[in-house]
Amino acid sequence: SDSPVNVTVTGAAGQIGYALLFRIASGQLLGANTPVKLRLLEIPQAVRAAEGTALELEDGAFPLLAGVDVFDDPKAAFSGTNVALLVGARPRTKGMERGDLLEANGGIFKPQGEAINAGAADDIKVLVVGNPANTNALIAQRHAPDVPADRFTAMTRLDHNRALSQLSRKLSVPVSQIRKLTIWGNHSATQYPDLFHAEVGGRNAAEAVNDEQWLAEEFIPRVAKRGAEIIEVRGASSAASAASAAIDHVYDWVNGTAEGDWTSAAIVSDGSYGVPAGLISSFPVTSSGGSWQIVQGLDINEFSRARIDASVAELEEERQAVERLGLI
Ligand code: NAD
Ligand code: LMR
Repeated sequence: SDSPVNVTVTGAAGQIGYALLFRIASGQLLGANTPVKLRLLEIPQAVRAAEGTALELEDGAFPLLAGVDVFDDPKAAFSGTNVALLVGARPRTKGMERGDLLEANGGIFKPQGEAINAGAADDIKVLVVGNPANTNALIAQRHAPDVPADRFTAMTRLDHNRALSQLSRKLSVPVSQIRKLTIWGNHSATQYPDLFHAEVGGRNAAEAVNDEQWLAEEFIPRVAKRGAEIIEVRGASSAASAASAAIDHVYDWVNGTAEGDWTSAAIVSDGSYGVPAGLISSFPVTSSGGSWQIVQGLDINEFSRARIDASVAELEEERQAVERLGLI
């Protein structure tokens, strides 16, 4: 089979890391024919715990797992890496908004961007999961000037999956029958889950729902605030569902999206749909040949326009905040 792909996971000893690593080792990140070498990055206090997870990975006897190394130095952890999952960050606890995390987490992503710039493989693909994910991805990207900007992405796939499930329940249809849902904007409470272009068994989803009150007062806030609901109910932020979405994002990036469908990912804007170029914002995207493309030519109605603009305005504010903090 092929030579192993190097996958670096930061925050490897955290709760998402624990759910993610075993799925990567089993072949679900890249595909059933691709061996992987895992490179785990942690802060010094958590290296021992990451080493414990490495022992458990060994005990899984995964046929595709070609090795596990643990690091506390970003330069070493990203050296030669092909896929970087930037999970390590401080998670939100009850009552905190994601914006409160900007300063705490901003400092992490500058050195990591520099390390990726210095030593990652030429085909490096980066997914930022740690919050505030879009702006953390922007910070890392700005500190990796030699890496093509489109290799830096942030995760809105969990929001996309949440929206699929909510719509599936509302219409009593399996998620497999839903296509072309979109999450726009920031991975935050301002995100906009858009049903207007979605299809359910070939029908327009907004027409199939035919319930504007449910759309505006239940669906959108439920999806946008689901992270807070999980924290409230579970007593900790989402972990296995976040790991699952990270697997979906990278799998599609590497292997391509299905014909006739799209997904959602936060990628560097080229100015499409009025999103200022350079911001890392969620769009409807397809993937082929290992790169994302923004789906073009969708009609954006007034309802959608206002919500996309509001979330993009928040991303602009976050960008200005990290500029003021000297992080970019
Ligand atoms: P956690 O606290 O369980 O684990 C985070 C880990 O990161 C810890 O082990 C910590 O030691 C490590 N870490 C901190 N700074 C680091 C650094 N500089 N380098 C390497 N590792 C470092 O948190 P979690 O529940 O696994 O969540 C991780 C992040 O993911 C949080 O920011 C959370 O808000 C975010 N998240 C995002 C989404 C999304 O949809 N984008 C969903 C869920 C969670
Ligand atoms: C989520 O969406 O579950 C995560 O981003 C955690 C959070 O802070 O909401």
